[in-house]
Amino acid sequence: MAESAASTPGPEPLDLPAGVHQLCGCGRSQHGWFCDGAHLGSGRVSYELRLNQAATVPMCRCGRSRRYPLCDGSHGAEPGRPWWRRWG
Ligand code: FES
Repeated sequence: MAESAASTPGPEPLDLPAGVHQLCGCGRSQHGWFCDGAHLGSGRVSYELRLNQAATVPMCRCGRSRRYPLCDGSHGAEPGRPWWRRWG
């Protein structure tokens, strides 16, 4: 079944205090959005976020973001046309 933009989950706001945060970039962490080292050996890395002041950060829940784990707005984009469809 084709995925529509309307059914794609949007970002989840995450309140963070000022400071340095290691965020999970592999989806394996047992601590939600925060890295617990589970990415080691997976070829992926954690995402370091530095905040000068407390902020609410939009976290990606759709898996399409090019800045994962942060939302870049890709959840609202139309999914690509399947390769097997005829053009025209
Ligand atoms: S939730 Fe926004 S890009 Fe994934």
